[in-house]
Amino acid sequence: MKICFYVMREYDELPYVEQFAKEYGYDYVWTAGYPEDDGYDVANGCDAVDITPCDLGAHALEEFAKRGVKYLLLRSVGYDHVDLKRAAELGIRVANVSYPPTGVASYAVMMMLMLARRMQPILRRAAVQDFSLKGKIGQDISVMTVGVIGTGKIGTTVLKNLSGFGCRLICYDPYQNDTAKQYAEYVDLETLFRESDIITLHTNATEENHHLLNKDSFALMKDGVLIVNTARGKLINAADLIDALESGKVGGAALDVLEIEDGLYYYNRVGDVIANRQMAVLRSFPNVIMSPHTAFYTTTAVKDMVLGAFEALKSFEAGEESVHEVKAR
Ligand code: COI
Repeated sequence: MKICFYVMREYDELPYVEQFAKEYGYDYVWTAGYPEDDGYDVANGCDAVDITPCDLGAHALEEFAKRGVKYLLLRSVGYDHVDLKRAAELGIRVANVSYPPTGVASYAVMMMLMLARRMQPILRRAAVQDFSLKGKIGQDISVMTVGVIGTGKIGTTVLKNLSGFGCRLICYDPYQNDTAKQYAEYVDLETLFRESDIITLHTNATEENHHLLNKDSFALMKDGVLIVNTARGKLINAADLIDALESGKVGGAALDVLEIEDGLYYYNRVGDVIANRQMAVLRSFPNVIMSPHTAFYTTTAVKDMVLGAFEALKSFEAGEESVHEVKAR
């Protein structure tokens, strides 16, 4: 078995690839670039491609299939960027990875505390020696209601983490789970929109929840609501969010993800003119915190992301089911 790793990071992922390739007895090639930078030919002669999120629509899958690739190993939990139907038609089996939900969950809590305590303006003003208090007053999370949308592994961990702060916790998910119920009350989405002081998103992106937060949902929310998104950019209509921030309806947003991230996040674009007006406007607001999709990024997660690919490939090679396999619905 030979794996082609795209977008390989020498400084953190490669040592794990070297280690697991030896343990599993697989060959590999790697490139630091995406297929559109370095070409699909890097995958020539490989059984599997392992890659971080980028456009994996029909064209990319067809290019891989032409080169004999039979397995697509995603270095991510999310797979909304993959045309799973086309992959199945081409006979390509697809696997995602799993890593502990705690990293993203604690990052989400950090972002909501930073928003509630106005940490970004406090740090920015301190950097220019403005140590005055005016405009820096925060909100105590313990008297707030936090609404968690999505109570899968990450959302449930967020609830568990928040349970120590004394805030009221409500949540929404079409599939309820008993652990979440220990910490929060399940409510319908409209109630969550109406009653939350902070709303945090922890659901994967699907056609059904595209732009779940939009002008209609913002209209239902409390004035000054804080929005946290460490899940997927497509969940929020960014133009509507900008309007809601401008009007003051939304009091602040912490965004680790954006609808258009391709070509931006994980690249060094210092000095470039970036054609992404929504990002530019959002970045200009003092009550918006943005980070470049780094909520997942811990030593634990990176190791698990590399290991997950080898585990999935071993199951695929043996013709077995893999817990990591993802299929079109
Ligand atoms: C995922 O694992 O789905 C993530 O969001 C992190 C990935 C972009 C590296």
